[in-house]
Amino acid sequence: MSERIVLAYSGGLDTSVAIGWIAEATGAEVIAVAVDVGQGGESLETIRQRALDCGAVEAYVADARDEFAAEYCMPALQANALYMDSYPLVSALSRPVIVKHLVAAARQFGATTVSHGCTGKGNDQVRFEVGIQTLGPDLKCIAPVRDLALTRDKAIAFAEEKSLPIVTTKKNPFSIDANVWGRAVETGFLEDIWNGPTPDVYEYTSDPASGIAADEVVITFKEGVPVAIDGEPVTPLQAIEEMNRRAGAQGIGRIDIVEDRLVGIKSREIYEAPGAMALMAAHRELENVTVEREQARFKKTVGQRWTELVYDGQWFSPLKNSLDAFITDTQKYVSGDIRMDLHAGRATVTGRRSESSLYDFNLATYDTGDTFDQSMARGFIELFGMSSKVASGRDQRLAEGK
Ligand code: ARG
Repeated sequence: MSERIVLAYSGGLDTSVAIGWIAEATGAEVIAVAVDVGQGGESLETIRQRALDCGAVEAYVADARDEFAAEYCMPALQANALYMDSYPLVSALSRPVIVKHLVAAARQFGATTVSHGCTGKGNDQVRFEVGIQTLGPDLKCIAPVRDLALTRDKAIAFAEEKSLPIVTTKKNPFSIDANVWGRAVETGFLEDIWNGPTPDVYEYTSDPASGIAADEVVITFKEGVPVAIDGEPVTPLQAIEEMNRRAGAQGIGRIDIVEDRLVGIKSREIYEAPGAMALMAAHRELENVTVEREQARFKKTVGQRWTELVYDGQWFSPLKNSLDAFITDTQKYVSGDIRMDLHAGRATVTGRRSESSLYDFNLATYDTGDTFDQSMARGFIELFGMSSKVASGRDQRLAEGK
């Protein structure tokens, strides 16, 4: 039997060509793997058929939307994961779930090598290959664009020469990666970082200045995961989809940043993640109400490290697993309701309610009913400032030459 290679297949031009390109370059049989992470577009069945029509010997398709939402997006929500304080890890989160399916397909079809359509300049090659190495240490990796000189021009020529059932004329200037957690758009005129994004860049969000009326929403969380919206029970996937719709209509979650790639290049990317950004605003505020101060402060550091690990392709690493255990523990009391106004590009929290709240009205109030003994504060401040006071006394003494 000839060698078998599984290929991460999107149904687009590049990976469709890659099927035949890999087969010709290596003599291996190619198995196409398509994973639905909520990117929209064509049905898995259409994609499966195209893979076979383009020469794949087998096609493996998986609807991983619920798995992706529950096991990848929800941990990111609990971590309040924003890379460089801005980017909710859209692409970085989808790679590990795709990796799982690639490795499963490799096992099922007896493949020795896994292939993906990434270039040699980005983060995604790292995420795929580090993930594959970790889950399948015996598997090899190959990237036709990077390793087999498959350029865009050659891809178009190959598709035409072989009459592949794929449109090659459509000129989309952008490189787009999308899933239910958000959408990433780069290249084209966006590579000039002074150029502002044009309206056609966006798909998940409407213009925040569209002037439509505000939308009030109540999100119910249980242990850091949304379980109901306006009282209607939802799965993680439904929560994200519903908030994508409602926050997207208000133009919430548009992001335009120059980011630091793992490979050392700065790149400009436009993201839109309406559901993710709205859910995160709600989740963060519920944590403010329910997580103890020191735990909350430390969690911010842990969340940032978690985010960097995931961005850097370390989803399956021991450190990421350990940080998961910490974050899960912090979510024990993050249950309750958050009311938000969605309007004109912003998700603004207007109310919070929780059985596990640490907010104590009787301690906080400035009205009668105050149970806080203010006289305790004097001694606390005296001791809290003591070490700085002693040090400054020393500084003054030395400055005066005594
Ligand atoms: N820069 C983002 C990341 O590394 C997204 C990468 C894919 N973007 C794209 N437009 N194809 O996570």
